[in-house]
Amino acid sequence: MASIEAVPLPGCGQITLGLINADFPTGPLPGDVMRDVLARPAYWSLCWGSGLALAQFILGNPHWVAGKQVVDLGSGSGVVAIAAALAGADRVVACDSDADARLATAVNAELNGVRVDTAGALPARCDILLMADVLYDKQNLPLLTLAQQHANEVLVADSRVTELPDPGYDEILTINALTFPNLGEFDEYGTAHLFHWRAPDRNTTPAPPPRKY
Ligand SMILES: C[S@@+](CC[C@H](N)C(=O)[O-])C[C@H]1O[C@@H](n2cnc3c(N)ncnc32)[C@H](O)[C@@H]1O
Repeated sequence: MASIEAVPLPGCGQITLGLINADFPTGPLPGDVMRDVLARPAYWSLCWGSGLALAQFILGNPHWVAGKQVVDLGSGSGVVAIAAALAGADRVVACDSDADARLATAVNAELNGVRVDTAGALPARCDILLMADVLYDKQNLPLLTLAQQHANEVLVADSRVTELPDPGYDEILTINALTFPNLGEFDEYGTAHLFHWRAPDRNTTPAPPPRKY
């Protein structure tokens, strides 16, 4: 049976998240249950590989967010927003179009003893906007441009997209991380690509040279 359990995140043990139990049923679902799952996908009940990768990156490199106004777009469980708060962000706003995800983010932030504000729309401006595993839906590609209108710099982590259509984004890192609990995804989805965009005329974080983690 599926349930939500609070667990320390493997590979990011300073964060505890309420996620679906690791032994959730994987067999065929009755038709009406399947329809409900598809109509209201609970993305927030998993920590996606890209979110785990970006959380690890931020915790290991806190200067990217410390003292800054941070937005996590497509927050899901809130893993990236919580990492930013733990890394010393001045303020973190977690945006998600799904009200259940906003609730999950708020509950998980409380579980980790950090303040994260939630919103259904982007705040007017922030220093840095973070986006992990949101480009699985090609209809979300315009978010890359929208993010630039709201932020001085943007970090995108995605394991399903290896190139971005906007040449203003530079790939700065690849990080190996699996979705938790493990969904048994294709091997190629075990590597998150980290892309960085910065506004040319604003004071932003110097990018590290490209390398692999
Ligand atoms: C695959 S989950 C990733 C969650 C989290 N970032 C992580 O890495 O674990 C994608 C999240 O993006 C949200 N989302 C999808 N499209 C969105 C949009 N256009 N605006 C805001 N949130 C969106 C979904 O509701 C979902 O919570």
